[in-house]
Amino acid sequence: MSETLSFSAALRERSAGSHSRSEHAGFMSDLLKGEGSRDDYISLVAQHYFIYEALESAGERMRNDPVASVFLSDKLTRLPALESDLEFLIGPDWRDRIEPLPATRRYVDRIRQVAATWAGGFVAHHYTRYLGDLSGGQFIGRLMARQFGFETNGIGFYVFADIADPQAFKDVYREQLDAVPWDDEERERVIEEVLVAYRFNTELFEDLAAAKSGALSAEQTA
Ligand code: HEM
Repeated sequence: MSETLSFSAALRERSAGSHSRSEHAGFMSDLLKGEGSRDDYISLVAQHYFIYEALESAGERMRNDPVASVFLSDKLTRLPALESDLEFLIGPDWRDRIEPLPATRRYVDRIRQVAATWAGGFVAHHYTRYLGDLSGGQFIGRLMARQFGFETNGIGFYVFADIADPQAFKDVYREQLDAVPWDDEERERVIEEVLVAYRFNTELFEDLAAAKSGALSAEQTA
């Protein structure tokens, strides 16, 4: 049955359960239901900063890799938008006022170790974040703007100014995934790494919920 699926379809199918766990994590669903505060939203943006710093630095190291470079696009770059959002949300001293949570530290370590040296691992992490940002992220950004009265400042992360049609962009991305000459074993490793990436995202939401309830401080290490 699954032999007839394209790689991108198999990847989506195999990660659907992990996606659902991430999507329904309490912190995120509270935020989406309007039960989160502006500070909760800011905490999430701060953690994104550390994640994209690692992901986009790994991207720099992959610039000349024949497989990974296919997926690199300046249109996706999120770090400058995150920096502007944090400056707007926290103030000019934002860098001194944010810390990675334990799950973020583990996520970032994984990106640094795996995604900077293994093209398939890089693509796994790249896919999990950017395709998510271009999918549910678009909806989340609009909802946050409405809830907290943001226009563009504060939600720049969700605005892909150079991608007019996210659906078309994602379709091309999936075609590119299907065109990579990975054998079955490598495809399996990439899928496994996507599941790892989802797990980090779910653990991040768990840490954000724990930090909010006072059960965890940002300074705590894993
Ligand atoms: C928290 C609320 C979330 C909502 C409401 C949401 C919603 C969605 C929706 C509706 C799609 C399908 C879009 C389409 O078919 O074109 C999607 C796809 C996707 N989401 Fe999410 N998502 C959420 C969280 C996440 C998280 C935390 C991640 C991981 C970081 C993620 C990663 C992805 C990826 C990689 C895809 C593309 C799957 C594929 O087509 O290959 N999402 N999301």
